Amino acid sequence: DKGGHKHYMAKEIAEQPTVLTNALGYYIKDGRIELPDPGLDFTQIDRLTMVACGTAFYACLTAKYWFEQIARLPVEIDVASEFRYREPPIAKGTAALFVSQSGETADTLAALRYCEGKADKIVSVVNVPESSIARESDLPLPILAGREIGVASTKAFTCQLTVLAILAVKAAQDRGELDADGVARALDAIKSVPAMMSQALALGEQSNAVSRKLAEARDILFLGRGPMYALAHEGALKLKEISYIHAEAYASGELKHGPIALVDEHVPVIVMAPRDALFDKTISNMQEVMARGGRVLLITDAQGAKEAGPGVWDTILMPEIDPFVAPILYAIPAQLLAYHTAVAKGTDVDQPRNLAKSVTVE
Ligand code: F6R
Repeated sequence: DKGGHKHYMAKEIAEQPTVLTNALGYYIKDGRIELPDPGLDFTQIDRLTMVACGTAFYACLTAKYWFEQIARLPVEIDVASEFRYREPPIAKGTAALFVSQSGETADTLAALRYCEGKADKIVSVVNVPESSIARESDLPLPILAGREIGVASTKAFTCQLTVLAILAVKAAQDRGELDADGVARALDAIKSVPAMMSQALALGEQSNAVSRKLAEARDILFLGRGPMYALAHEGALKLKEISYIHAEAYASGELKHGPIALVDEHVPVIVMAPRDALFDKTISNMQEVMARGGRVLLITDAQGAKEAGPGVWDTILMPEIDPFVAPILYAIPAQLLAYHTAVAKGTDVDQPRNLAKSVTVE
């Protein structure tokens, strides 16, 4: 049942404020973080190793910034297919964390099994509680996204981010990096996301309009800094998966080390720039693109658009949000751009060619 939507993907994008609210209710009770038994005490952990594939890996990449910045916890991340054969040494005091919507991805499961008996604790962030990855973890953390049918992951991604953000706050609290006020502020920011998402979804027509222009492109670049670099990857993956347009993500600061050579008037450059601590730097990279004739689609809030000045090709305006949780909110335009571009191209949105929902072989 597509609930009145043309595609499961559209339905699942629209469901995000609701499913996120469910996840928040499960993990935050009376203003306090509660993990299911046996819980996780971050005073017993010195480092975190996070492993996943595809979209779930980009959730890990985003969360690395959170754990390092707010909890000062060192984080290593890798894609499961590399991790499992790299056979990395696992130091004492390591928690290994696996993120998987299906809980059955072959490489992620093999990576988890590699960590058995080596990591102090095996944690998973999963959507399917009875899955292999959940069953083989010491602490399976459900994301409560509900069944995801569209092959391109949407609501699972933002629910993964939400659970990881809560876990990062828990780590900061346990490790004494955030006091009670700091924890309360961080949790308020996380709790503000569903309502902000509803606003961003209501502004979805902006993405629809620009997608008709993106559908003409052969290559598209996504740029961001910090956690928005992770989201740039997710935006590029979503776009290539369902619209078959070649898309790449770069850290804004890497632009001048090569990829800027690609920029001309035929390559749209999507700049993801909430007004965070790195905003000015991202905007200056954006101006370098424009100075070379690049067409920039800027995703920011109204004040950000004003500060960025004139000359952009198009803008998607977002509600103003606490920079900590901006990556969760900015997933919405990344998903909508991919969705509307695919619809404009007439591709099979829910069943993209060559892809399976659950990758149970390596
Ligand atoms: C992208 C997508 C895939 C999955 C990846 C991992 O939209 O859905 O990249 O994220 O195959 O799958 P899970 O999360 O089930 O381990």
